[in-house]
Amino acid sequence: PRRFRVHHLRQAKERGEPLTMLTAYDAVTARVFDEAGVDLLLVGDSVGDNMLAHDSTIPVTVDEMVVATRAVARVTRRAMVVADLPFGSYEASPAQCHATAVRLVKEAGAHAVKFEGGTHLAGHVELLTRSGIPVVGHLGFTPQSENILGGKRVQGRGEEAADRLVADALALADAGAVAVVLEMVPAPVADRVTEVLPVPTIGIGAGNGCDGQVLVWTDMAGMGSWSPRFARRYAELGAALGAATRQYVTEVRTRAFPGPEHTYES
Ligand code: KIV
Ligand code: NA
Repeated sequence: PRRFRVHHLRQAKERGEPLTMLTAYDAVTARVFDEAGVDLLLVGDSVGDNMLAHDSTIPVTVDEMVVATRAVARVTRRAMVVADLPFGSYEASPAQCHATAVRLVKEAGAHAVKFEGGTHLAGHVELLTRSGIPVVGHLGFTPQSENILGGKRVQGRGEEAADRLVADALALADAGAVAVVLEMVPAPVADRVTEVLPVPTIGIGAGNGCDGQVLVWTDMAGMGSWSPRFARRYAELGAALGAATRQYVTEVRTRAFPGPEHTYES
């Protein structure tokens, strides 16, 4: 399969073909998603709350992102691999941002990086872009700022906040961002951003008008007992895996497994 690249992002927007993005944190799932035709695989810092049992994304380290990104990038043949820059690894300066992004591209094989924030990070986006690293922006609810934002809350409500969101998105795009994720934004506001932005918007809890959609794979596949309001559960993998495990345990205990076909003769 031909690799999905940055020019395909613009192409998709021009043609009105919705982009598909899903998180992946390891080789097992990345291979499945890539073969299923997902355009972009996001090695999200949501690895923190989804895979590493943290309460948020805030404790995630660059080393952890490198390990996860490397596993995803190694098995991915078509999708563009986007790696999140974790909290504390980029905010202080464009130089800090560049150093972290280089690790994820060079050591781990990411094709692009994503980080959270607007106008104040335009210089960061510009330096990375000039250095050959595509940047995906992330606006609206930005989980790394949950302590400032006062929790998981819809962002961009009200005229002033909506105007600020539009301005932030434009600043990122002007600086070279190749796409912008919009998280937990009222649909009309996401539509406004989508209309004015030359690059694709990728929504999560941002309505059906964005240029693409992204979900955390465990929410999409029903791995947990709960999924956020903005996610559709396309499977009940958690329940399926539980049932398989219970059957395995039962069969071992009753000596129904292994059978002759699983057994070597002398
Ligand atoms: O880390 C993540 O999963 C994300 C998506 C929610 C966009 O940033
Ligand atoms: Na993230």
